[in-house]
Amino acid sequence: MSVYYDGNKKIFGLHTKNTSYLIGITPEGYVGHIYYGDRLQKETEAYLLRTEEAPYTPSVNKREKSSFLDFFPMEFPTGGVGDYRESCLNIRNEDGCMGCELFYEGHEIFGGKKKLEGLPASFGAEEQVQTLELICKDPVLGLKVILSYSAFEEEDIIARSVQVVNEGTQKLKIEKVYSACLDMDNESFEMLSLHGSWARERHIQQGELRYGKQMVSSARGESSHQEHPFLALVTPGTGQQQGKVYAMNFVYSGNFIAQAERTQFDMVRMVMGIHQEEFCWNLKPGEAFQAPEVILTYSGQGLGKMTRSFHDFYRNHMIRSPYNHKKRPILINNWEATYFDFNTEKLLDIAGEAKKDGIEMLVMDDGWFGKRNLDDSSLGDWQVNETKITGGLKALVEKVNEIGLEFGIWFEPEMISPDSELYRQHPDWAIQIRGREATQSRCQYVLDLSRPEVLEYVYDCVAKILHSANIVYVKWDMNRQLSDLGSSWLDRESQGELFHRYVLGVYALQERLVSEFPDLLLENCSGGGARFDPGMLYYSPQIWCSDDADAIERLVIQEGTSLVYPLSTMGAHVSDCPNHSVGRVTPFETRGHVALAGTFGYELDITKIPAEDRKLIPEQTRMYHKYHELIREGDYYRIASYRENHLYDCWAVASKDKKEVLVTYVQVLGVPNSHSRKLYLQGFDPEGVYRLEDTEERYTGEMLMKAGFLMRGFWGDFKSRLYHFIREA
Ligand code: GLA
Repeated sequence: MSVYYDGNKKIFGLHTKNTSYLIGITPEGYVGHIYYGDRLQKETEAYLLRTEEAPYTPSVNKREKSSFLDFFPMEFPTGGVGDYRESCLNIRNEDGCMGCELFYEGHEIFGGKKKLEGLPASFGAEEQVQTLELICKDPVLGLKVILSYSAFEEEDIIARSVQVVNEGTQKLKIEKVYSACLDMDNESFEMLSLHGSWARERHIQQGELRYGKQMVSSARGESSHQEHPFLALVTPGTGQQQGKVYAMNFVYSGNFIAQAERTQFDMVRMVMGIHQEEFCWNLKPGEAFQAPEVILTYSGQGLGKMTRSFHDFYRNHMIRSPYNHKKRPILINNWEATYFDFNTEKLLDIAGEAKKDGIEMLVMDDGWFGKRNLDDSSLGDWQVNETKITGGLKALVEKVNEIGLEFGIWFEPEMISPDSELYRQHPDWAIQIRGREATQSRCQYVLDLSRPEVLEYVYDCVAKILHSANIVYVKWDMNRQLSDLGSSWLDRESQGELFHRYVLGVYALQERLVSEFPDLLLENCSGGGARFDPGMLYYSPQIWCSDDADAIERLVIQEGTSLVYPLSTMGAHVSDCPNHSVGRVTPFETRGHVALAGTFGYELDITKIPAEDRKLIPEQTRMYHKYHELIREGDYYRIASYRENHLYDCWAVASKDKKEVLVTYVQVLGVPNSHSRKLYLQGFDPEGVYRLEDTEERYTGEMLMKAGFLMRGFWGDFKSRLYHFIREA
């Protein structure tokens, strides 16, 4: 049994293949955290709750209740009654006072996992996941809180979420509700997180955890370019193969907080949830609020194991798309090729040339609707611009299909341009504060997705276009963050709900879309990778990783992204040179090798690129056909990081059966007077004998991993090579 209850000791245990998580209940009913770490095989005990030490528990020593509350390792701390560390739940009562205290009431253990109403969430069959629901109550408020823990045995994951139910008679306000907490003794932890900006998303950063609170967060209405809903605490010296790692990742695409707090007693409280800034939820008697899910994992074998746990988990238990385990068409997107300056003829030219080289789909990006020839108009007017798309969309798609390519299209459904018919008709559909000129970003406002008629309009626009032609792919973009939070539809009391209601609106739209068009390949995008999170993966199997497609910039972006997310989810294209973001010129071959570590496609004007680059495309499309399955389904190993060494980058993907391993090496900068570079590879069976494809070189897995492999013959900057090892014995 992976989840059990020991009624004598009042201990709940959750076991996965390599980890155990223990929860203890005190005599008063406080729910405490005992242990999370390497798998325990034998009898478990509760002494780590330290209830035998001063200040004891409140029933033993009533005087010291505040000392107890401010020290005890809580599973789900509440605010206002004496635990001064970060709380996970703040409730304000009808008198306007904030205070809540939770006591264990009962529990349920069952196979499988419930859906979370209106939210993306992991799923699994009864034999794959077991769930523990701890039912807690605040008797004064009449509040029920269900703490839910789902243990995924194979992937070493615990998915946590929280539901708050008002069973009392007062109108309550939830002013803060996080989804998970982990109270632990400090082990000189370092905090690892992902930070970024537009065009340089998810760079890994790491540093000592100091006393006090350190957090990453977003209050921008999306998970954001800047910080990422991921946080790991690692012990000093943690690397790919050693060290303890505690990691949380939030299944949510809006405002979040991920925080670690080192306390006066050298304990650490790690929390994650919806950011409390501009959040407030009214909970009338009988109502329930469902907080989103946090994915929790522990690795006792370094970051590499954490990465592979997340990858397997998202592929097996989060992504629903039929494309999850299927080859994605090699697409060519016209954005960097033409920007807004295109028409039917130009698109057909691109399609015709692309077909010759093995490209399989044309994606028409921004600029096909309304009167949009720049980014300053027409969002909301989702009618085809027939001056550009002469003869209409259906005719264009038919011609592209005749050429032999599939067709995909770009939308930015959540937005409204001030210069649009939609805005002229419905100015109140934009998120704005009455009496204040709303801040524009990229010349646009955001639609009020809390409003049902807006959702209807938006959905109908997208669905109508999809019904009008043979469109198999949608790139769903979101190019600005939210500001001026005001809804002319919500009442005064409910304005604080807008951020969350907006995200629920996005989820409702995408849920409807993938239900009505189950075979659609949906790629999410947000000004590059500002909404690259597990929430979006529930709807789309891939997300555009960054607007920066420079091969060298991408090394760092893709290293950070793949720390958590499978390669199959990272939108990656071979793009034009000099690169449009940084002006760098890199070999076409290197651009291909880097894009191969993602979904693979092209974003350039194939009719204009240099002949020597063009010649490589058929080779690259063959390369994709050869490796797509391995890359999509395999185990990922980070071998060297250019971010750390400033000279070279290396990663490997091994098939689950270890019969083949593909190593990608990029020499970013050449070094004078140097020899070949030795790297310790990973991912092989140490007992196996592997041949390096296209050579007669043979190596044991053990030799490659323990003694190393030589990267030879590199001359110049930005050079790359693939090494395909095939097991022979
Ligand atoms: C965003 C996307 C780009 C492109 C443009 C179009 O920036 O990330 O790929 O689609 O919008 O406006």
